[in-house]
Amino acid sequence: MNIIEVKNLKTYFYSDAGVNKAVDDVSFSIPEGKTVCIVGESGSGKSISAMSIMGLIDKPGIIEGGEILLEGKDLLKLSDSGMRSVRGGEVSMIFQEPMTSLNPSYTVGYQIDESLKLHQKHLNKKERFEKVVEALELVGIPDPREKYREYPFKLSGGQRQRVMIAVAMACEPRLLIADEPTTALDVTIQAQVLELMKKLQRDKGTSMLFITHDLAVVYQIADEVVVMYRGHIVEKASAKELFADPRHPYTKALLNSIPTPGKTVRKSRLDTVDDSVDYLSFPKEIR
Ligand SMILES: Nc1ncnc2c1ncn2[C@@H]1O[C@H](COP(=O)(O)OP(=O)(O)OP(=O)(O)O)[C@@H](O)[C@H]1O
Ligand SMILES: [Mg+2]
Repeated sequence: MNIIEVKNLKTYFYSDAGVNKAVDDVSFSIPEGKTVCIVGESGSGKSISAMSIMGLIDKPGIIEGGEILLEGKDLLKLSDSGMRSVRGGEVSMIFQEPMTSLNPSYTVGYQIDESLKLHQKHLNKKERFEKVVEALELVGIPDPREKYREYPFKLSGGQRQRVMIAVAMACEPRLLIADEPTTALDVTIQAQVLELMKKLQRDKGTSMLFITHDLAVVYQIADEVVVMYRGHIVEKASAKELFADPRHPYTKALLNSIPTPGKTVRKSRLDTVDDSVDYLSFPKEIR
């Protein structure tokens, strides 16, 4: 069963210079408990696809068309307050800039508690406290009872990112969207955080939309891969198929842009794809 189905999504930005079709006729779905990765270069529309699902597109952006079905319910038809209760409840997101998404003025525990207050109204204060401690424990924060009262600046980058994951997972969302959640972390911590996300996903059966530039991360975490190029999907495939047999010239170019392990420094930015080729001139959505 698909938890989410995005159908023919179009999210455009208008300016005096014209229209920027940031997401143009994009369709994909995520089965229960599975991970779909969106890959593509900077500006290809990955974050805007995610923000569209979260109902966070603001002027000059507008969703021009399509459907976003969460277990059959079209999110694009919800009122603002309906969408607010979906956000952080059935769907939650770890944002691309983790350092700015925790509020520096509140303790770590308070921030997880706020989300529980909104979305798990049946819990009382004491039950919520235990849930927060459990969430911190689950993401591997040492001394969770003490850390409850710490402010974000007291934590390391890796710990802050774990707290972000704890905030996002505390409400046991059906869908977790993670936008480059590990890019700011060093490689060892990154591997730990990915392992952790996979474990939480296994335990809770959460579906995941994972956005990354890093094909090594895709290899580690994806069931299905969506390749975006200038607002379009150029190829969709299972992770296995994509790495073994990339079909679209753009996907091939992306895969060629990963240096061979051991030979060169590992790159996380896909910036070596040839700009002189118009990859949209090839057939789209191969497979
Ligand atoms: N607030 C905005 N106003 C106008 N245009 C925007 C806005 N946000 C994004 N865009 C445009 O939408 C397009 C897609 O941007 P998006 O942020 O989705 O890229 P991305 O694939 O996430 O890139 P990155 O890998 O750098 O995060 C880009 O052309 C970008 O300039
Ligand atoms: Mg982005």
